[in-house]
Amino acid sequence: MPDTSPAKWHLAHTTWFFETLVLLPHAPGYRAVDERWMRLFNSYYEALGPRHPRPQRGLLSRPSTADVLGYRAGVDAALLHFIAEADHDSFDAAAGLIELGLQHEQQHQELLLTDVLHAFSLNPLLPALHSQPAQRPAVSAGSGWTRHGGGLAAVGTASGVGFAFDNETPRHQVVLQPHALARGLVTNGEFRDFIADSGYRRPALWLSEGWSSVQSQGWSAPLYWQLQEDGQPVSEFGLHGLQPWQAEAAVCHLSFFEAAAYAEWAGARLPTEFEWEAAATQADPPDDLFGSVWQWTRSSYDPYPGFRPHTGAVAEYNGKFMVGQIVLRGSSLATPPGHARKSYRNFFPPGARWQFSGLRLARDL
Ligand SMILES: [Fe+2]
Repeated sequence: MPDTSPAKWHLAHTTWFFETLVLLPHAPGYRAVDERWMRLFNSYYEALGPRHPRPQRGLLSRPSTADVLGYRAGVDAALLHFIAEADHDSFDAAAGLIELGLQHEQQHQELLLTDVLHAFSLNPLLPALHSQPAQRPAVSAGSGWTRHGGGLAAVGTASGVGFAFDNETPRHQVVLQPHALARGLVTNGEFRDFIADSGYRRPALWLSEGWSSVQSQGWSAPLYWQLQEDGQPVSEFGLHGLQPWQAEAAVCHLSFFEAAAYAEWAGARLPTEFEWEAAATQADPPDDLFGSVWQWTRSSYDPYPGFRPHTGAVAEYNGKFMVGQIVLRGSSLATPPGHARKSYRNFFPPGARWQFSGLRLARDL
């Protein structure tokens, strides 16, 4: 699938990030492990030279996985040596990039899982990444609604307050209207009711582009559901392989279009990213904000007022993607522990289904 990358590429690319952005410019005397690999493992940085196209990453049978693991070990050792030996000024100049490189690698840890899962889903053997029995799937605990009276809310992360990506800054105020957010996530069982009520066959529920996708791609259920002949869900494919479908699990692997159609059917809407963040910071927050599924919002991925990208080559990290994408909030079962924040802004095109993406409803009051 053109949007995904092989595991070997993720391993090499996250190492390339440290080599190219930390070691080559900052570590005296460091020489690239293999100059030719720069082109292979640069993802999207125009300032750092030509790139191998993403849809063809799966064709890179060389370097081998062993070569890539050796690359990682070598760059790790060089980085540790640099950290141990650098003088204060050299270290200060590189410290922010090292932290960004670590956060970047955490992002790729999740992408590696979503990409492996998608590749395995196309294998008729439906292999399981994890051979041990599945844990109980993330269950949406909450019911009812949390109310917000509206008014000014502060969102985003102020600079200097722990790590944040540039897209979460600057902290600023937004105006919220009175609204309510669902305490819990939408569940598989609730989404089954949407399907049973002809949700995928009623164009009035869908955004135009979403309805086109339903028709052109034959969507009739979340990405990894398997249906019986009578249309009832029977199993769901995941990192533990094919598992029995469970009504109480949070619905997952939805596009924004499916999430928005469900909300329309439910007589509700998706929250804005700012309503989500305000709820997350209130004294009595909704349940399952983190660690289950990313939650589609109704917010376009736009720069905050006063947004300034990271400086240098990593200016391309976020800012240039701020068009045509939708913000997701929270985190998923595949997000590395400690990676997400209340101000964290994940983003994907509205048709993306292979991430661990679900939804939480909102309502106007
Ligand atoms: Fe990357």
